[in-house]
Amino acid sequence: MAVRFSSISAIEVLDSRGRPTLSVWAALSDGRQVRSGVPSGASTGSREAVELRDHDDARYAGQGVRQAVENVNGPIADALIGRSFSSLDDVDQVLRDLDGTTDKSRLGANAIVGVSMAAARAFALESGQPLWRYLIPAEALPRLPVPHFNVVNGGVHALNNLDFQEFMIAPVGAPSLPEAIRAGAEIYRTLRSTLADRRMSTGLGDEGGFAPEIDSPEEVLTLLTAAISDAGYVAGRDGVAIALDPAASEFHRDGRYRVGGESLSSQELIERYARIVDEFPVWSLEDGMGEHDAAGWQQLTAALGDRVQLVGDDNFVTNPAVIAAAVRSGIGNAALIKVNQIGTVSETLEALSVCRRAGYGAMISHRSGETDDSFIADLAVGSGCGQIKSGAPARGERVAKYNRLLEITASAPELSFGLPPATH
Ligand code: PGA
Ligand code: ZN
Repeated sequence: MAVRFSSISAIEVLDSRGRPTLSVWAALSDGRQVRSGVPSGASTGSREAVELRDHDDARYAGQGVRQAVENVNGPIADALIGRSFSSLDDVDQVLRDLDGTTDKSRLGANAIVGVSMAAARAFALESGQPLWRYLIPAEALPRLPVPHFNVVNGGVHALNNLDFQEFMIAPVGAPSLPEAIRAGAEIYRTLRSTLADRRMSTGLGDEGGFAPEIDSPEEVLTLLTAAISDAGYVAGRDGVAIALDPAASEFHRDGRYRVGGESLSSQELIERYARIVDEFPVWSLEDGMGEHDAAGWQQLTAALGDRVQLVGDDNFVTNPAVIAAAVRSGIGNAALIKVNQIGTVSETLEALSVCRRAGYGAMISHRSGETDDSFIADLAVGSGCGQIKSGAPARGERVAKYNRLLEITASAPELSFGLPPATH
């Protein structure tokens, strides 16, 4: 199989936060077209591949992406058009060589990832397979993932005073993907009524979760656990569990963690998490410690690693080498996987492979700034990692991913659903 592009181009469009991003188009030599939309984060890790922004204050407060668009339309298109590629790896290698930096800062990770995602779609099309099937790695089986619905937003994704960024419900015990989606939507609706009954705001944060004026993470967890049972579900690993992403880098300053007005040491924060895990049905904890607190991460892993999934995001940045080093240092037991954090689809697949070989879990993730592109739904199924987070079960850019999972389920009823056996 070979892919030959007859055109590659990008335009500046808006993401779900109303900020500019790229829409990338590519045409195959027979005229068939593929498209991708580039996501963008707000609570980013310091070692993420670099998004190119124009920094022209006269447009979009400096957030324009015209330069990245020009890089797609100019040097990238010139390097790819007319050549015959036998694999996505080859396309991504050309993109990396053309950029020439380790952090993709010359052409921009936003330009590169958009082209890489479009190229993956081109290979899927050329091979006559749906994207998820094309993305299945040699050593893994595809699987429908457990959706992790972010129903309460805090941190930098909302204007409330809640320091923990994400409170997710994960129907790990659901019998099927459609039933998991139904559980997420019904609990979301119940939670909305609970907040409204208490005269609390039902306004939404960046990922579609509610952003009530609550400062205490434990208070949110109490409301959430109640909403799960009020909606008729069992709270816990047999039914609907909870996953947290405090995104602790954002409240880690001068060696202390600032939570709800308190200043905690790493040890005190770990003790707080231990009490939370004792009291609430939390099965997964992402970025519990700040990305620069490696010692805290090791202590957290030693203290809770056999009870909960500990996911590295800001500290791992979907970088295969960084994840491999973390495995050697006893940091975490799972990785968050975001395509734009590393900048190409091939390197994302490599990060997933590092996780698999190390026995680490992996959760495919959207970004807080999204488009209607549902690429990550196919990636989650193809990789067989068994977990995805794509925000609330509401708002178009979030449900695009969940709806794509429903489509895949309908088209491939033979696929298993749920966490991979090793994660249980
Ligand atoms: P981001 O947040 O997309 O704003 O980086 C998502 C996360 O922290 O997981
Ligand atoms: Zn995170």
